[in-house]
Amino acid sequence: MIRFEHVDKRYPGGIIALQDVSLRIERGELVVIAGASGAGKSTMLKLIAAVEQPSAGRVSVNDEDLRGLRARALPYLRRQLGLVFQDHKLLFDRSVFDNVALPLAIAGLGRKETSRRVDAALDKVGLLGRSHASPIALSGGEQQRLCIARAIVHRPAILLADEPTGNLDPDHAGAIATLFESFNRAGVTVVIATHDRVVIERLRPRRLDLQAGRLLEAAP
Ligand SMILES: Nc1ncnc2c1ncn2[C@@H]1O[C@H](COP(=O)(O)OP(=O)(O)OP(=O)(O)O)[C@@H](O)[C@H]1O
Ligand SMILES: [Mg+2]
Repeated sequence: MIRFEHVDKRYPGGIIALQDVSLRIERGELVVIAGASGAGKSTMLKLIAAVEQPSAGRVSVNDEDLRGLRARALPYLRRQLGLVFQDHKLLFDRSVFDNVALPLAIAGLGRKETSRRVDAALDKVGLLGRSHASPIALSGGEQQRLCIARAIVHRPAILLADEPTGNLDPDHAGAIATLFESFNRAGVTVVIATHDRVVIERLRPRRLDLQAGRLLEAAP
């Protein structure tokens, strides 16, 4: 489903973020990308989402080489992806409901179906009762769950999450890990970049360990 073949990523300025990374993630897998700060975890997710392009090698999703992806095909890729990225900010001048509804509005879904799906997504993350609140009124953990609801509302086949438990205490981090587990049980391919031990211990995922841009052999 997701494939890296000898992928290098160099950023302007000469920083080598990934070096000769090859891997496969199959449909329905639950994978954690682990590694120290700067190891290249976020870069891997950005390559899968086609937010960044590899400097060498090939990244493909569903057998489609992302480099050959025409601009017109990009929305199709994005519809298959749910992204929980740190730089995807919430809209604080809109309600919780509207924040989740936004991707569906862009997709042109009708009001009734939108409402049904947004409620279902908010219900999954335990925020259904807060639909009309402003995201400002939510705690950090609740805001994190709101971001997850927004990422899954269009029912993506693949969920990519970058440090989804950053700044959360172990209880809340565990709750989020359990949430990802439930999506995975429902058939979603889940890829999480994290160094949160709570998440790794809770999920017991397949681990991809990065060290200074290189993929290490399978962890014990
Ligand atoms: N847009 C960019 N321009 C230049 N260098 C970048 C850019 N993005 C990342 N880097 C560099 O690439 C390397 C890998 O960064 P990346 O964000 O992938 O690491 P990470 O494993 O996600 O780290 P963290 O745990 O701190 O989030 C780092 O040295 C970083 O400084
Ligand atoms: Mg990162």
